[in-house]
Amino acid sequence: MTAYLDYAGLGKLRQPAVTAMRDALVDVLPHGSAEIGRIFPARRRARALAADLLACSTDEIALVTNTSTGLHLVADGLDWRPGDEVVVFDRDFPANVHPWRARGARLVWVPMRDGGYRLEDVEAAIGPATRLVAVSHVNFATGFRIDLDAVCALAHRAGALVSVDAVQSLGVLPLSMADTPVDFLAAGAHKWLCGPVGTGIFFCRREHLPRLRLPGGWFGFQGANDMLTKGAGHFRYDLSPLPTAARAEGGMYDVLGMVGLAETLAEVSEVGIAAIADRVRRLTQRLCAGLRNAGCAISASTEDDAWSGIVGFSHPAVESVALATELVASGIHVSHPDGLVRAAPHYWTGEAEVDALVAAITLRVH
Ligand SMILES: Cc1ncc(COP(=O)(O)O)c(C=O)c1O
Repeated sequence: MTAYLDYAGLGKLRQPAVTAMRDALVDVLPHGSAEIGRIFPARRRARALAADLLACSTDEIALVTNTSTGLHLVADGLDWRPGDEVVVFDRDFPANVHPWRARGARLVWVPMRDGGYRLEDVEAAIGPATRLVAVSHVNFATGFRIDLDAVCALAHRAGALVSVDAVQSLGVLPLSMADTPVDFLAAGAHKWLCGPVGTGIFFCRREHLPRLRLPGGWFGFQGANDMLTKGAGHFRYDLSPLPTAARAEGGMYDVLGMVGLAETLAEVSEVGIAAIADRVRRLTQRLCAGLRNAGCAISASTEDDAWSGIVGFSHPAVESVALATELVASGIHVSHPDGLVRAAPHYWTGEAEVDALVAAITLRVH
C-alpha cells in the first residue's frame, strides 16, 4: 500500500491542471505568437479565482512565483523607518523571517510553547515601535494554526500591520479577507493548492496599494501593450502605474504555470473549501487517534481552532528522520521538518492511506 501524506511539502498536481498544461505545451507553445493568445487569458482567470477563494477583490491579487516573493513585495515595498520593529515567531519557516531581517527592522520574537503560540505572548511582543506582525497561519512543522483574527486585533490596536504567510493553509482551510482584516498575504500554490511549482498568490489590501512600492515591470503600467497593438502614437515611457496589485507581476511570465494555476483554483472552487477542510479535519482526527494509540506524541494542539492539515509527531522509540526515511522507502510519503515526522493528508487522500501510516507506525512500536 502506498500513501501520499506530504501535501505540506509538495502537493500533487491535479489531473485537470496536468491536462490543461500538457495541451498548452503541445498545442500552443510550439507555435509561438501564432497561438499564444489562446492561453494569455489564463492569468486573468487565475487572479479572479484566487480573489474568490480569498473573498477579496481581483485588484488586490498579484500572481507571483512563490511565498518568498510575495513576502518580499511587502518587505521591499514599505517605507521602513529607523527603529521599526517586526514581530516574528520562533521556529517559523525562514522564508517569513529573512525578508524582515533584510530590511534592517529589529525583530521581536514570539516564543513557541508546546508547538504553538499564545496570544498573550503575541500581545507582549507588540509595542509602540511595532510596524508589522509577520505571522504564518499554520506552522510548517507542528501544524499549529494561529487565530488570525485575534492577531489582527492585537496588531491593529497598536497601529501595526499584519502580513501572513499562508502557504500551509491556502487551499485547505477557509480564509476570508472580507472577515479577517490581514493587510498582506502570500502563499505558494505548490503545496495545498496542488498547483504548478513556481506559482503563488499575493494579496495586498486595497488601502495599502497606493503606498506599497511594488516593482514596476513594463506590464505594470496602464496601456503598456498599446504600443504593440494600437499602431503609431502610443509609444511612451510616462505611463501611469497600474493601480492594482497586478502591478507587481512584472514582464513576461510563466504562461504554462498560469494555465495550471487557473485549473487548480477552479477545481478548489468546484469542490468548495468548506468541504475540503471538513474532510481534512476528519482525516487528521483519524490520524491523530491512531498515532496516539501507538504512543506517538503529537506536536501541537489538534483540538479546537488550532488544527490544520499538518500533523507533526514523534515516535516513542524511533528517531524522526530515520522513521520518515523508512516510511518513504516503503511508499508512505511523509516528511521530517525540524525534528518531527510530518503527515499532511488532503481532500483527495483516502482513509486507507491514513490507516497505512498508522499501521506502519504501530508495527514499529512492537
Ligand atoms: C510556512 C512556510 N513558508 C514558506 C515556505 C516556502 O516558501 P516558498 O514558497 O517561497 O518556497 C514553506 C515551505 O515549506 C513554509 O512551510
